[in-house]
Amino acid sequence: MTLRVLGIETSCDETSAAVVEDGRKILSNVISSQAALHAKYGGVFPEMASRMHIEAIHPVITQALSEAKVTLDDIQAIAVTRGPGLAGSLLVGVNVAKGLALGRGLPLVGVSHLEGHLYSLWLVEDVSEVQFPVLGLIVSGGHTELVLMTGHLHYIRLGGTIDDAAGEAFDKVGRMLGLPYPGGPHVEKVARDGNPLAYNFPRAKTDRPYDFSFSGLKTSVLYELKRQAPNLRPGEEPPPGGLPIPDLAASFQAAAVGALAEKTVAAARAHKATTIFIAGGVSANKALRAEMEKQAGDLPVRFPPLILCTDNAAMIAAAGHWRYLAGQRDSLDMDIKPNWKLT
Ligand code: KG4
Ligand code: ZN
Repeated sequence: MTLRVLGIETSCDETSAAVVEDGRKILSNVISSQAALHAKYGGVFPEMASRMHIEAIHPVITQALSEAKVTLDDIQAIAVTRGPGLAGSLLVGVNVAKGLALGRGLPLVGVSHLEGHLYSLWLVEDVSEVQFPVLGLIVSGGHTELVLMTGHLHYIRLGGTIDDAAGEAFDKVGRMLGLPYPGGPHVEKVARDGNPLAYNFPRAKTDRPYDFSFSGLKTSVLYELKRQAPNLRPGEEPPPGGLPIPDLAASFQAAAVGALAEKTVAAARAHKATTIFIAGGVSANKALRAEMEKQAGDLPVRFPPLILCTDNAAMIAAAGHWRYLAGQRDSLDMDIKPNWKLT
């Protein structure tokens, strides 16, 4: 029997709803991003994010059902992001999901946003061939997590960031370089015209082999910027032509993706993973993709299609599909978990 899951995602600044069939086939994936509204604050403004989710959520769900050419009668379960994320934002999605579950008598399945990112890689048609264990790296705006996936829904945490998340480092450096929010894609864009070898920024040493640290790298970029432009204030746009922004961006990016690739590949080899899965917003980065593939050699590396790298509800529906099959049914008093850990 066909199993169709309606996914709902509102953990940060994207309001999204999707219909996924059999955990693999995306019938619709509607994403309404608030990023342009938050850009003028240089980051996500939580109160505004929850208000915007309230405005967007019903039209987004209606559109997801209509694009999928289904009604709620054709849906077997509702999967919703329960955490981690912004409390006010998570509440909107979870409450709407509960309302639909109650109103239609449908099962409710709470999903971890981080697990969702990993399941963005199972939305690819030929992925059933992948054997466990799989080494997963989640690199997003709020998280950098290295996990060994030993089976569906089973994870062993190998490491993660001890300070800034990878995406957060891109966003902070983007801000320092006077680039718009979110910094990640803008840093990547200006870095294309820069020399990654122009500056030798440090790759942090950590006590545990599979942990990451990006705050020292970020501070080194700041010191270099201050050395070259002593009067520049943080976030202020550097004078045009005055600073080698592309070289700074490219050198920062090379150090960041180098560290990510090195530890991910080492962990994959040490744990005899058959494949490496990279997920989350930063997995859209082409320099990261190239460096991972270079260092992994003959070990296969998979990335989600670009639209599934950043936040979306299709990945939540995909993870919800497996949780539903495993028998998970959450009650209507399910709470949100803003600081939920994957393991
Ligand atoms: O997964 P995501 O949409 O949201 C969170 O769960 O955090 O990730 C957003 C993060 C932001 O930090 C953004 O700057 C970063 O992903 N990002 C990128 C790129 N595209 C998005 N970072 C580097 N290069 C990119 N092309
Ligand atoms: Zn995310």
